[in-house]
Amino acid sequence: MFVVTGATGNVGRELVRVLADAGERVTAVSRQPAPVPPGVRHSQADLADPAGLRTAMEGADALFLLVAGEDPEAILDQVKSAGVRRVVLLSSQGAGTRPHIYRHPVAFEEAVRESGLEWTILRPCGFDSNAYAWAESIRTHRTAAAPFAEVGLPTIDPADIAEVAAVVLRQAGHAGRTYELTGPTPITPRERAEAIGGALGAPVRFDEQTREEARAQMLAFMPEPVVDGTLAILGEPTPEEQKVSPDVELLLGRAPRAFADWAARNVAAFR
Ligand SMILES: NC(=O)c1ccc[n+]([C@@H]2O[C@H](COP(=O)([O-])OP(=O)(O)OC[C@H]3O[C@@H](n4cnc5c(N)ncnc54)[C@H](OP(=O)(O)O)[C@@H]3O)[C@@H](O)[C@H]2O)c1
Repeated sequence: MFVVTGATGNVGRELVRVLADAGERVTAVSRQPAPVPPGVRHSQADLADPAGLRTAMEGADALFLLVAGEDPEAILDQVKSAGVRRVVLLSSQGAGTRPHIYRHPVAFEEAVRESGLEWTILRPCGFDSNAYAWAESIRTHRTAAAPFAEVGLPTIDPADIAEVAAVVLRQAGHAGRTYELTGPTPITPRERAEAIGGALGAPVRFDEQTREEARAQMLAFMPEPVVDGTLAILGEPTPEEQKVSPDVELLLGRAPRAFADWAARNVAAFR
């Protein structure tokens, strides 16, 4: 049985579906009650309260773990005491490229590596689904605003991350591996807005924000060091952050999906 934390999120929701479709037994964890596919068990728990994870972990073989809560060691102690043997961590590319800023995923990676469990770490770059931030302005004004209009990054479809996670959870041979996950090609914010326009069949205007405008907006929902780290990746990516990784294709046997594919599947959010 697999336990999926973040089961209401962009990756977790899809991972629960993929595992359930494959006939696996799944427990979906979220902090609030949430709908789950038929046959899937739901467990309410908060990673910020590791003791509360015990019920969710009962009978599990492996855990898909999100970076949330402040005490990864306590989370992993609960996991081990429930008899779980494997953990797949959804970390972040920044843990590798900017570890001094991405301290939260770095702390989770270190705890996972030292846990004594079989572990696999997934390090995705920015998600295609971050474009949901444009949903309201595209719905109401057919406009998308972002900084660094011409800087391309190989953003990834969260559905590809979920498929990779399902492979790593279900197959042997991934213990002790860290996978870098990217999309198929760098794409700029302006091109992402155009792709959403293509999916809508109506042009989307692009307004380039200054760094300060973007920073003020992001501070409303992200801690300051993460905002500055994210702006650094978006504005001045390192060659490593712009590089397309082969790992999704190696694990799935097909190329990662293009942003236009994500936009077409999620166009309803922008109508
Ligand atoms: N977005 C990106 O570009 C990006 C890039 C690299 C890595 N990541 C990582 O990927 C993960 C998902 O990111 P996302 O942007 O796609 O977010 P998201 O879909 O909004 O997912 C966030 C999920 O986290 C769960 N969650 C948050 N705090 C929790 C807690 N204390 N205990 C249990 N569950 C908790 C939420 O569940 P409930 O609220 O239902 O409990 C929700 O399902 C994040 O951990 C992030 O670090 C994201």
